[in-house]
Order: sequence, then C-alpha cells, then structure tokens
Amino acid sequence: MLLKTLSLHSFRNYNDLSLNFSDRINILYGENGIGKTNILEAIFMLGNGVSFKTRRDKEILNYESSSYSLRGVFSSENKAYNSTVDIIYQNNTKHILIDKKHVKYRKEIIGKVLYILFLPSDTNIVLGEPKVRRDYFNMLISTLSENYLTTLIKYTKLLKMRNILIVKNSYDANIYNEDIAKYGIILSNECEKYANLVKDKMNSVFDEIFGTTCPYDIKYVSSISDIKDEESYVKKLESTFQTQIKMKTTFFGPHRSDYVFSYKQNNSKKFSSQGENRMFTLILKLASEYVISEIKKTSPILLIDDAMLELDNLKREKILDYIKTKGQVFITVTEKEKLRNFDDGLSFDIFSMLKKEETHN
Ligand SMILES: Nc1ncnc2c1ncn2[C@@H]1O[C@H](COP(=O)(O)OP(=O)(O)O)[C@@H](O)[C@H]1O
Ligand SMILES: [Mg+2]
Repeated sequence: MLLKTLSLHSFRNYNDLSLNFSDRINILYGENGIGKTNILEAIFMLGNGVSFKTRRDKEILNYESSSYSLRGVFSSENKAYNSTVDIIYQNNTKHILIDKKHVKYRKEIIGKVLYILFLPSDTNIVLGEPKVRRDYFNMLISTLSENYLTTLIKYTKLLKMRNILIVKNSYDANIYNEDIAKYGIILSNECEKYANLVKDKMNSVFDEIFGTTCPYDIKYVSSISDIKDEESYVKKLESTFQTQIKMKTTFFGPHRSDYVFSYKQNNSKKFSSQGENRMFTLILKLASEYVISEIKKTSPILLIDDAMLELDNLKREKILDYIKTKGQVFITVTEKEKLRNFDDGLSFDIFSMLKKEETHN
C-alpha cells in the first residue's frame, strides 16, 4: 500500500493542507511542537479509524473549529487500483468512508492499510506491564490472521461474562468453561507460534543490519503451560473455582500470559539500558514489518516518529540504510541533516507549509 496524497481540514494545528507524497521516503522536518507528529497521526487514522494519541475526537479538532476532515488517496503497490479514505467529524459524530461509501464498523477498515508505527514511547513495550506486550502481539497477530481476531473477540467476551458471574459467587460461571478452554488453547498456541516467528525474523533483521548475532530474545510464557488439552483446561477451571471466587477473577488463560524479552539472556525489563531497549523495540518492529510483508505479500507503510532517539550515529545510520530498502516511509526529524542517508527522500518543511497556510487564509 502507498499513500499518494493527504488532505487535512481543521485537523490539530492545520487549517487546510494538501500534500503529495513520494512512494519511497518522506521526511517531515521542523522544530519541536511544529506539527510533525500530527501528520503521522492523520495518516495512522486513515488506516485505523482512531488515533494513537487519543480516543476523543474533540481533542483532534482544531481549537477554533467544530468539525474536521481527513482524506487519503492510497494505491496498491502495483498501482492497479486507487482507494480513497475519508474521515469526517461533525456534529460530534465521526464518519468513515471508503471510496465514498460509509463504513459501519471500524473493523472493516482494519487490515486494509498496513502500518508499522514507531513512537518515542515504544520502549514501554519492554518496560511496561504484560498487557502492553499482549496488546502489541494481539494487534500484530490480528493483522495477520482474521481467524485469530475473531477468536480473540469471542474469548474476551466470554471471559468478561464469566468473571461477572465469579464476582457474584455464581457457579453458573462454569457454563462457559468448554468454550473458554477451546478458544484459550487456540489463542495460546497462536501467540507462541507468532512469538517464535517474530523472534526468528529479529535474528534475520539484526544480522542483515549489523552482520552479527542478535542479542535480543523473545519467549512466550504461557499461563496455561501446565494444561495439555481442553479436558484438563476445563478440569482446572472447575478444581480451582474457589480460588477464582477468592481472587474475583479467572486467574489463568492467554489473558494472563506474557512475552519475556531478554538481552544477552538477561531479562530486559530488569537489566537493560534505555539504548538497548530502544534498539530492542526497533528490531522488534522491523521484524514485525518482515513478517507482515511475507505473509500479506505487501509492504506496510512505516511511520517513524523521532524513534531513533538514544542511538549513536553509526547504529542509527545502519538502521536507516536498512529502512531505505523497505516500502513507503514517513519519518519525522527536527533537523533534516540528521537523515542524510535519505538524501533521495522527499522532504517537507513544516514551518514553510504553515506559513503558506497563513497567507492563503
Ligand atoms: N486540537 C488542536 N488544535 C490546534 N492545535 C493543536 C491541537 N492539538 C495539538 N495542537 C498543537 O500541535 C502542536 C504539536 O504538534 P506535534 O505534531 O506534536 O509537534 P511535533 O511532532 O512537531 O513536535 C502543538 O503546538 C499543539 O499545541
Ligand atoms: Mg512529535
């Protein structure tokens, strides 16, 4: 997928802005606070329906406006077809249109435009709670497998209903056990499979960039590793029911599993430096890019926001050289000179774009 053009109206600090992009590297530069991340946010929204910053559209509206709109024209990599995505927010309601047709459910637009998003806050994946890692992998696997997404939705719904009954001390909670066991085992197996796949690709990516063995590792640690099959899963749900009542929750299952990240065999969360964690997340995301490209047979769009922070120049340049060989890239930077590897990229000077907006109004 390629984003050909983007138009923004009353979106964040932009009144009216239209941009034509390169199919390869697009550099958005300007000082802090000028509006670089806002453009990545707009691009992300066109593929996801929601922002990575907020779920509240009121925050996205230009301060002086009551409506905003975004339009992106995408084309397939072979240029065989174009597709227009519109997001229009007015009267406190958001409308998403693909090729001028209203989209009813957000899930209809997910997976159409593939992205890998690199944010300064990514080191949270290493340092945060297990949920942050589960969410990352759930999103990645859902992009790759519709079946995983539907199973995850069913499991989450049943688990919620089961936990409500547990809180009420009701044995009826156990009516969901067979389905929970069935879906729980599927999810757990898929998580393990994809964690191993991503780990393999991390090795390839690292070797390709640095020519040495990857020191980073990912291990899926299942909270149901003691369970062999659906039957023993159901048995455990029954035999530990009193403890569940005490804890007011179903305390095991894929929703309690974790992905343990390590650097040179030491747990990253406990021992790694900020620079090592930054590198870990970059390699993780590049490995995710690799997996998506291989399975979906199309390169995801790379949205890279100040993500090379904390890396020394040599490492940064090697990573940028690798990124150069990938699909379409949008990258933000305070000074254009920092991206000299991308001398053939198309650059956008946000400051002059805003100046032009002012003179038009
Ligand atoms: N809803 C909004 N309306 C107008 N301006 C906004 C809105 N939300 C954020 N901004 C402005 O956008 C700017 C931040 O943009 P951002 O893309 O994060 O900058 P950069 O990434 O270049 O550092 C700030 O000046 C902020 O005040
Ligand atoms: Mg920014």
